[in-house]
Amino acid sequence: MNDSRFRKIREKLQQLGQEHVLRFWDELSEAQRAELAEQVEKLEPELLRHLRQLLREHLSGKRPRGDLEPVEMVRVPTTDEDRARHRRAQEAGEEALRRGKVAALLVAGGQATRLGYPGPKGTFPIGPVTERSLYQYQAEKIRALGRRYGVTPPWAIMTSPATDEATRRFFEEHDFFGLDPNRVFFFVQHTVPALDPEGKLLLAEKHRIAESPNGHGGVFEAIAESGVLDQLAELGVEVLFHFQVDNPLIKICDPVFVGYHVLENAEMSAKVLKKRDPYEKLGVVGKLNGKYAVIEYSDLTTEEMEARTESGELKYWAGSIAIHCYNVDFVRRVLATDEGLPYHVAHKKVPHVDAQGQPVTPEEPNAYKFERFVFDALQFAERAVFQEVLREEEFSPVKNATGADSPDTARRDLTRVFAEWLEAAGVEVPRGDDGAPLYPLEISPAFAEGPDELRQKLPAGFKITGPTVLE
Ligand code: UTP
Repeated sequence: MNDSRFRKIREKLQQLGQEHVLRFWDELSEAQRAELAEQVEKLEPELLRHLRQLLREHLSGKRPRGDLEPVEMVRVPTTDEDRARHRRAQEAGEEALRRGKVAALLVAGGQATRLGYPGPKGTFPIGPVTERSLYQYQAEKIRALGRRYGVTPPWAIMTSPATDEATRRFFEEHDFFGLDPNRVFFFVQHTVPALDPEGKLLLAEKHRIAESPNGHGGVFEAIAESGVLDQLAELGVEVLFHFQVDNPLIKICDPVFVGYHVLENAEMSAKVLKKRDPYEKLGVVGKLNGKYAVIEYSDLTTEEMEARTESGELKYWAGSIAIHCYNVDFVRRVLATDEGLPYHVAHKKVPHVDAQGQPVTPEEPNAYKFERFVFDALQFAERAVFQEVLREEEFSPVKNATGADSPDTARRDLTRVFAEWLEAAGVEVPRGDDGAPLYPLEISPAFAEGPDELRQKLPAGFKITGPTVLE
């Protein structure tokens, strides 16, 4: 490496109080030096100062929060009037889909640390019977939309440096699951450095600064900077249906939700469900200082969590499940604001090398990561719709390796939903004493997406006598 490049990065690090990053310089190969130099060159001084400031505030416990109040919700329909309104929403959503105004937008840049799976989470085999991956389910759902509405929604997928290559390869190896590759758009989110409690950068390796993806809220800048937002707009897309990689019950581009969003002229909307109990760790929807918001579980007081209305219902019952619609124009508008989406600070385990160059795998959180959350964009929305949906039908995330919200619970929930569809289509489903289906069941979205379609497609006399796959 030439002297002047080295001097420049050393000076930059000195100015930022981070010279220790070059601690192992003498031991590095030329290629490793180049890699580290590039990372230092990319460091944004303003961002780093901002993160250090956030960390100081976080550590000093100063966390001002605004006044919280509930917001109006679209509830699960119970009356004829509700149902008529729901149908109108569905028709509006279907019309938007037929006219190609909706794209699916998946955020899949996370590191899936809790699941502990060695590949991107979307490649995880989640089929109750087969090895059908989360990605395959999603792709099949998108193809089913194409069958139904005559236009297959384009699919934008956000990856991160850690998941990008493996994700693209997975899609290529599976021929994009039958989708048109020209309508699948990958883009990579930014990363931000982790900091130790003193605000120092950590080295993941002697030649690499520890960085992590900047949160699912990184999607706004990443989709715009990559050019994908413009490409979607050129295709006529106006609404983005945002979802996460790990919920196999997701109704991608759900026409009812899209329809409410469109009919209400909303800029950003969210699906919500009833919290199981006051203490369930879900962010709740409300207004903070008069602006729409999702308030993280940890930012609620016990009083707020337990507060009830006159009818006895929780005042803040509506948990956000990270399913949103937002408009292409809204993304542009948020990006044009000075403040953008804030960073949140999280205490995490960050593997690193210590001052002696020894690798450390922490047992306890040792450093701070910074993430943006997409729901923070709600504060910029003039209009928003919050639609209640049923957990049993729409939400079963794969977060942990075992226990709650794990592959086991997701497969069980898939089987339960498929059993209900089959029964509604007139098929007898053998059930055990506990009422759960005796055999795992799997229905590809390419075969049917609900009882009506099933009824039309099932052969006469169809019986379940063991694990069953319909595809
Ligand atoms: P989670 O918060 O569940 O994180 O992400 P995760 O990375 O999947 O899992 P853990 O916390 O490491 O165990 C929710 C969704 O947001 C995406 C994830 O890919 C997932 O779809 N995400 C998260 C991003 O796209 N980028 C990020 O920086 C973080």
